[in-house]
Amino acid sequence: MCGIVGYVGEQSAVDVVVAGLRRLEYRGYDSAGVAILDGTTLQVERKAGKLANLDEVLANRSLPGTLGIGHTRWATHGPPNDANAHPHVDCAGAVAVVHNGTIENFEELVAGLGERGHARRSDTDTEAVAHLVEECYDGDLAAAVRTVCKQLEGSFVLVVAHRDEPGLIVAARRNLPLVIGLGDGENFVGSDVTAFIAHTRTARAVEQDQVVEVRRTGVQVTDLDGVVVEGETYHVDWDTDAAEKGGYEFFMLKEIQEQPDAVRDTLGGRLTPEGLLHLDELAMSDQDIRGIDQVVIIACGSSYHSGLVGKYAIERWCRLPVHVEMASEFRYRDPVVGRSTLVIAISQSGETADTLEALRHAREQRAWVLAVTNTIGSTISRESDAALYTRAGPEVAVASTKAVMAQLAAMYVVGLYLAQVRGTRDADEVRAHMHDLQEIPDLITELIGRMEPVRELARSLKDAQRVLFLGRHVGYPMALEGALKLKELAYISAEGFPAGEIKHGPIALIEQGTPVVILAPRHALQAKLINNIQEVRARGARTIVVATDGDDSVLPYADDVIWIPDTKSLLTPLLTIVPMQVLSAEVAAARGLDVDQPRNLAKSVTVE
Ligand code: AGP
Repeated sequence: MCGIVGYVGEQSAVDVVVAGLRRLEYRGYDSAGVAILDGTTLQVERKAGKLANLDEVLANRSLPGTLGIGHTRWATHGPPNDANAHPHVDCAGAVAVVHNGTIENFEELVAGLGERGHARRSDTDTEAVAHLVEECYDGDLAAAVRTVCKQLEGSFVLVVAHRDEPGLIVAARRNLPLVIGLGDGENFVGSDVTAFIAHTRTARAVEQDQVVEVRRTGVQVTDLDGVVVEGETYHVDWDTDAAEKGGYEFFMLKEIQEQPDAVRDTLGGRLTPEGLLHLDELAMSDQDIRGIDQVVIIACGSSYHSGLVGKYAIERWCRLPVHVEMASEFRYRDPVVGRSTLVIAISQSGETADTLEALRHAREQRAWVLAVTNTIGSTISRESDAALYTRAGPEVAVASTKAVMAQLAAMYVVGLYLAQVRGTRDADEVRAHMHDLQEIPDLITELIGRMEPVRELARSLKDAQRVLFLGRHVGYPMALEGALKLKELAYISAEGFPAGEIKHGPIALIEQGTPVVILAPRHALQAKLINNIQEVRARGARTIVVATDGDDSVLPYADDVIWIPDTKSLLTPLLTIVPMQVLSAEVAAARGLDVDQPRNLAKSVTVE
């Protein structure tokens, strides 16, 4: 949920840390702060609001030093104000801590600290850690951090500096992401690799309950008992430009443009020379795949909508029952899953706490868990039995676009692979469907090139109070996605429904001029969708119809038409999702809102 950076090297630490925080600001932007150690002088600056506010403070400060830690916050304990901004320090100002996560036993810890005379200056759980380190410190910061971690319950990434240990920062993680950057005469820790890929592309993931000692000359990782743990490094091939805006006003607009590549790269290399589909990442034997008796998909938000599309595809091609579950609800209803259940955990960030806890529950029930995620080395990928990576590249905008598009492609691949192994689709059928999928990137490119009418439509909707989205079959999940995008970006009340459901109540919402978006690409259910369009239009709705090029049957009932290219009806989400994205981004822009960082949201929701 928060962004964390740590640096030890030879450069100006404040410059390196702040630049890293800027790349991580999408993880939270309620406040920002840095602690810089120059010799034994530890200086802390922090400010509520976006990083720009801290920039203003730092412009008037000199913070020399080549060791630093920094933080951008998404508030969980205490309002986003200066006092609650990280870093937090101990009574003497000797220890500085930044933290991502939730320490679930912090009230108990704070009570004990109060009894022992520690003065509390914030509402946060993090400050307790600074005072605990103060108590445990006896000249060995790593040992003190290890001792403190054993007292903590919940989830955390901590990065700690002590003025008596110039040249050393100590980091630790439980349940949340932390990655090491290994440079030449300098080393880094960060919430993800974007914090330091401007300096090094050699990274190492930090595993559960590990403690990292970071010095200019090297890094040592131990467990909570101080036993050294070896680990693999990996090369980060994301281009630094990939995390920049590339000339677009918003990251989201750039990422919409990157969707053809996201699909192409996610589909890429999936066919063997014999024309068979392979999915080695699933890491299941053919026999086990044939033994699957149900599929359960767990996810949140837009990833949940991808899962709903996956349901239609897997059920159609594999004749397997598929249950799509809101991850936050899944484990609390004692679900029926077991050894013959394939659970698919879909998560762009790979760190969503609701999804992580749901997959942990599924694994306890001995289900096989496949992660479908965009983040290599993420907690969800490392705690699943198998991981299929969507290759959408870094997605910075909080509203997910290219990652969701890549998730859709991945779900089709999973469905076809299961069908191939289970024999419910023969090799020719699988190849034909893959061919249809491989045509999609060019169709997306062509569709993106004709979004001006959607931008114009968006400007006319900027003052709408309520918008409804309707769809049938795979159009229903896209109606949900269209509504979510408009809510999260333009803060407009929007709801998605199965089109057939509108007459069972929601139709009462329609007043004269209420915009209703109906996803009606050419489909076997077209006649029923036309009926639905007529139902809402008869009650005064402004009908905005998404239709297949050349399908004039919708014209008599549509006030506005958004045309999309033709493709197989099961694959239409890969196309209908694009105008939904552009529409919401452009309405938000027309309303003067921050398209990349909508209020109250964060890119990775790592608290339950
Ligand atoms: C997407 O536009 C939303 N910002 C949000 O619903 C997101 O899809 C959800 O939080 C799940 O995130 P994840 O894919 O990283 O798990």
